[in-house]
This record gives sequence, C-alpha cells and structure tokens, in this order.
Amino acid sequence: MKMHETVEKNLGLMVVLMVIAISFGGLVQIVPLFFQPETTEPVEGLRPYTAVELEGRDIYIREGCVGCHSQMIRPFRAETERYGHYSVAGESVWEHPFLWGSKRTGPDLARVGKRYSDDWHRAHLINPRDVVPESKMPAFPWLQDNVLDGEYTAKKMEVLRGLGVPYTDEDIAGAKEAVEGVAEMDALIAYLQHLGTVLSDR
Ligand code: HEC
Repeated sequence: MKMHETVEKNLGLMVVLMVIAISFGGLVQIVPLFFQPETTEPVEGLRPYTAVELEGRDIYIREGCVGCHSQMIRPFRAETERYGHYSVAGESVWEHPFLWGSKRTGPDLARVGKRYSDDWHRAHLINPRDVVPESKMPAFPWLQDNVLDGEYTAKKMEVLRGLGVPYTDEDIAGAKEAVEGVAEMDALIAYLQHLGTVLSDR
C-alpha cells in the first residue's frame, strides 16, 4: 500500500506516529485510574501522619532508607505470606511523595508497623548487628542524639493540606509543640510503627 510505504521510508514520520501510538496505549491504561474510587479514595480508617510521624518520615527520606527498602507488597503469595496483606492504592493517597521504592536490599517495610517493639527498632537502628548478626544494614546512631526543633513542621503540614491531606487547623497549630525536643530516633520509630497498620489491623 502506498501510505504504508511512505511511512516505512520516512524515519521522522514513523517516529512521530510511533510516539502517538504508544502514548495513546499508555493513556488508555492510565487515565481511567484517575477516576476510580479504589485508587483515589483513602481506605477506611486512614488518618494523616501525626506531626511526629511526619518528621520521622522526612528522616526516613533524608537517611536514604527508601534506597534499600520498598514499601509496596505485591499481590503474590510469596510476598503476602512474608509481609502481610498486599499494598492497596487507598493506603497511599496522602503520601507526598510516595515511598514505594523499587530496591529491596532489605525487606519490604510496608507493614512493619507493630511487628517489633520500639526498643527493638532503637537497638537495630543504633547497630543492626546487635539484633540481626548477619545484617548488612548501616548503623544510624546519630538519630539518638539529634533533636528536632519543629521549626518547619507546621509549614510542611500546610503544604500537605494544600495537596489534599486533611490536616485540621488544630493539627497545624499544635505541630511545633508536639515535635520540639523529640529525638530523631523516636520520630523515626513512631513513623515505622504506624506503617501499614491501617489495613493489617482489620
Ligand atoms: C544499605 C541498605 C540499607 C539501608 C540504607 C537501610 N536498610 Fe534497613 N535493612 C537492610 C537490610 C539488609 C535488612 C535486613 C537485615 C536486618 O534486619 O538488619 C534491613 C532491615 C530493616 C528492618 C527490619 C525489617 C524486618 O521486617 O525485619 C527495618 C525496620 C529497617 N531495616 C529500617 C530501616 C530504616 C528506618 C532505614 C533508614 C534509617 C534503613 N533501614 C536503611 C538494609 C538497609
């Protein structure tokens, strides 16, 4: 056919048409998800992070935990038997940015909340080898000494509210007081202990 020949012999045109075809295919898969309640609505019982947990989450980001730990349990038997209920989109609707990750040097942490005691986490973060002798995880002892001042906590919550996280005026007003003086270690542990508990508590 003449038209087919024209496209095959004209690289520029072929590239443009390929991009259009692939984009269309992608959009057909992705766009409907924007309008499905299962992917856009919070799961029942979800609450925003407390001020302290939110700071803990930022420490998790700062220390690069996401580089070794995913927070995304896939719906496969091998994963759900090890980690618990697979992750659902409704758990992540207030995550900005999401921390699903893609690298599992260590185990997935999507449901690590309440699996260990606070003391276990403290010992593990100060020196992982004290509790898991074969561990390759780095130690984070400074978290014990660094203390939060809460200077930006309220601002962060305001920004998150702008993105749709339902923080109340009281949450924001009390943020600095809640965070000031808390050790980074305690904030990080508070965050870890909340991870994935909304769904697994059911
Ligand atoms: C260089 C990679 C690496 C980094 C960075 C890292 N971890 Fe780990 N983590 C591991 C490995 C490997 C294990 C498994 C051995 C162990 O339990 O120590 C692990 C285990 C864990 C566990 C126990 C999980 C379970 O289900 O038993 C927790 C909790 C954890 N890490 C939290 C963190 C936090 C919080 C940070 C950031 C402050 C962090 N990790 C940074 C590699 C890493």
